[in-house]
Amino acid sequence: MYQILEKRRLSSNVVLLVIDAPYVAKKAEPGQFIILRVDADGERIPLTISAYDRKKGTITIVVQEVGATTMKLGQMNQGDCLHDFVGPLGKASEFDGIKKAAVVGGGLGCAIALPQAQKLHDMGVDVDLIAGFRNTDAIILEDEMKGACSRLTLVTDDGSNGHKGFVTDALKELIEAGNKYDVVIAIGPMIMMKFVCKTTEPYGIKTIVSMNTIMVDGTGMCGGCRLTVGGETKFACVDGPDFDGHQVDFDEAMRRSAIYKPQEQAAREHQCN
Ligand code: FES
Repeated sequence: MYQILEKRRLSSNVVLLVIDAPYVAKKAEPGQFIILRVDADGERIPLTISAYDRKKGTITIVVQEVGATTMKLGQMNQGDCLHDFVGPLGKASEFDGIKKAAVVGGGLGCAIALPQAQKLHDMGVDVDLIAGFRNTDAIILEDEMKGACSRLTLVTDDGSNGHKGFVTDALKELIEAGNKYDVVIAIGPMIMMKFVCKTTEPYGIKTIVSMNTIMVDGTGMCGGCRLTVGGETKFACVDGPDFDGHQVDFDEAMRRSAIYKPQEQAAREHQCN
């Protein structure tokens, strides 16, 4: 059993959970994910690691309460235990040779972008972190993000905090201002990652995206995370979750990720009733 050591509500539907999982924490790296089951009858869900502490033996996950299992997780409290917590899974992000980077997070994706920015920052890389949210109420982990980069640019759709507009506007502005990034890392909704890639392509900047959102069972068996990268079939859970964004067929991935919407909706309604 894996105990919840800390629970913190970050916004109306987002919670942060610190889990006692020393064996996972021992090997966890940015970009990797875990699979958990709330109870013996629960579904297995993959969640990307938001932070790890090898000394304390803890893994932090940030959960948006949008589905049946994430809603159950949101109702759990400090001291409660998860039935299963397996990981770290997936390939760790690669950071060799990077001197200057832009890390772009969108919404909940900022919780996953955070360990990437932190690791780069700790390695002495000059990191611009661009974090986009719908509005000021949706902003999460602002202090943690500030501590994980050289400069934080906050962007909101409605301008209620930081710059008004999209992360792509802020990124283009920074590139046009003469920042020479070795890499741009984008993590968030697929449509955001698609347009970050469209923004960086004309400048020839290597762009890495995390396709964690399309994973289902996370073990390479269900086929749910199949995507096309550079004309080849890949699986996000075993070949990724990180991929060269300029090679990803986002339109196909977005179509495929909508396939299970009716079942997800039915499970969510069942959980709410
Ligand atoms: Fe099932 Fe990758 S999530 S095969």
